[in-house]
Amino acid sequence: MKILGICASPRGSKSQTRRLVQAVLEGAKSAGAEVELVDVCDLEIEYCNGCQVCYKKGVCVHKDDFQGLYDKILLADGLVWGSPNYLRSITAQMKTLVDRMSDAIHCQLLTGKYSCAVATGGSNSDQVTEYLSAILLNFGSFVTGSTGAAMASGPKAFEEAEKKAFQLGKTMAEDVSVKRDYIEQREMLQESREYFQKLVEMHEKDWEHEYEYWNKLNWK
Ligand SMILES: Cc1cc2nc3c(=O)[nH]c(=O)nc-3n(C[C@H](O)[C@H](O)[C@H](O)COP(=O)(O)O)c2cc1C
Repeated sequence: MKILGICASPRGSKSQTRRLVQAVLEGAKSAGAEVELVDVCDLEIEYCNGCQVCYKKGVCVHKDDFQGLYDKILLADGLVWGSPNYLRSITAQMKTLVDRMSDAIHCQLLTGKYSCAVATGGSNSDQVTEYLSAILLNFGSFVTGSTGAAMASGPKAFEEAEKKAFQLGKTMAEDVSVKRDYIEQREMLQESREYFQKLVEMHEKDWEHEYEYWNKLNWK
């Protein structure tokens, strides 16, 4: 079982968000998972230019560090995405990564995976965990949960978040093992699956790769 953590703070080893990603990974490791942490800010990832070549061909026109990370994301059974709160949202580096994955939304490529979101903020981390959880669901994965800390709430609040993060990692690893069914999320995932299938069907002539992808799955 592989669990991949992605931290999007530019502060490297000084990052508090990274500590939460690490705690989730330690929890997952204690439950038997093989874990890896990637600092997305160490990678060179270009902006999506909206050319739609990935919809047509299944590959991106940019030759940079994206594909290597994307391959790891697609191979993982579980994902931990962490970002600090930058102006009520994720960092630009995280946004650049997820923008490059829009083919994965159309094809719901995180289906069958489990995920969780972590964040820190000066005064608010919920804005980020809510956003990350929503997009992880948008990509087709189940969301095991999330945790975060507002640094202004002091070290105790951070310690609590770190403990919760460790537990979250254990739960996510168990989710992967037992293939836990989150019924409410499954219903939402099914609806968005049908939505994206219709969208791709409408673009049959244009988005050949995505049309072919769903065709191979018999539109299920
Ligand atoms: C450019 C920038 C924008 C920020 N915007 C917010 C914000 O809107 N809300 C908030 O609560 N904290 C904000 N912060 C504070 C960071 O989210 C906070 O310090 C966080 O814990 C940093 O995480 P890190 O240690 O993982 O880098 C901002 C910090 C920076 C540098």
